[in-house]
Amino acid sequence: MQCLGYFAVKSGTADLGNQFKLVLLGDMAVGKSSLVLRFVKGQFDEFQETTIGAAFLAQSVCLDDTTVKFEIWDTAGQERYHSLAPMYYRGAQAAIIVFDITKPETFERAKAWVKELQRQASPNIVIALAGNKADLAEKRLVEYEEAQTYAEDTGLLFMETSAKTAMNVNELFLAIAKKMPKTDTQNPTHAARHRGVNLQDPDAHSTRACCGGN
Ligand code: GTP
Ligand code: MG
Repeated sequence: MQCLGYFAVKSGTADLGNQFKLVLLGDMAVGKSSLVLRFVKGQFDEFQETTIGAAFLAQSVCLDDTTVKFEIWDTAGQERYHSLAPMYYRGAQAAIIVFDITKPETFERAKAWVKELQRQASPNIVIALAGNKADLAEKRLVEYEEAQTYAEDTGLLFMETSAKTAMNVNELFLAIAKKMPKTDTQNPTHAARHRGVNLQDPDAHSTRACCGGN
């Protein structure tokens, strides 16, 4: 994968871009899977099914002239899956904690996730807070300012998003990409880690052009 302007395109050369593990956490039905589906496939489903266990998807974004590849773990929000979550946030370099701006209890749940990550995830993890379903402004029960103040005080990235309209979805992943540590792509150790990735295999990478908007 190489960057050409805003787009990631397949190339015959080895992918020396940076790869990061990103996990989505949050209460059930807040729109975690919908955000991932929007970001990776540019789609939205009004009847998105609840996630069982977790789902994995990959997508790359272009940052200047480098590609940042996210390996995304979309976890299940139902309480009975809570005990599985550490498996997915362990070793993650980034997390998106999602709440629904029309449901204050999901904002409280988001805060509990932040605390859990601060206690148990990697100390350098980049945490983003997403106030999703921003298209449902008339049903809003969590004020933008309240979430923003909390995020500022806690050192989180914050954006309101809509998986439905695509508002701020690419922007959120791009903001996270910008916060990922830079790796020396000339370093042979780094290059070796990427050997064996078959760029011609559509399952090995999401090949959708990135950053061009959904
Ligand atoms: P679990 O897998 O159960 O944890 O839920 P989830 O957080 O993955 O939520 P999911 O993406 O399945 O979305 C739940 C419902 O909310 C679905 O009916 C979606 O269509 C809807 N939804 C998701 N995002 C948005 C959004 O931005 N706006 C609106 N209006 N609806 C949304
Ligand atoms: Mg889901």
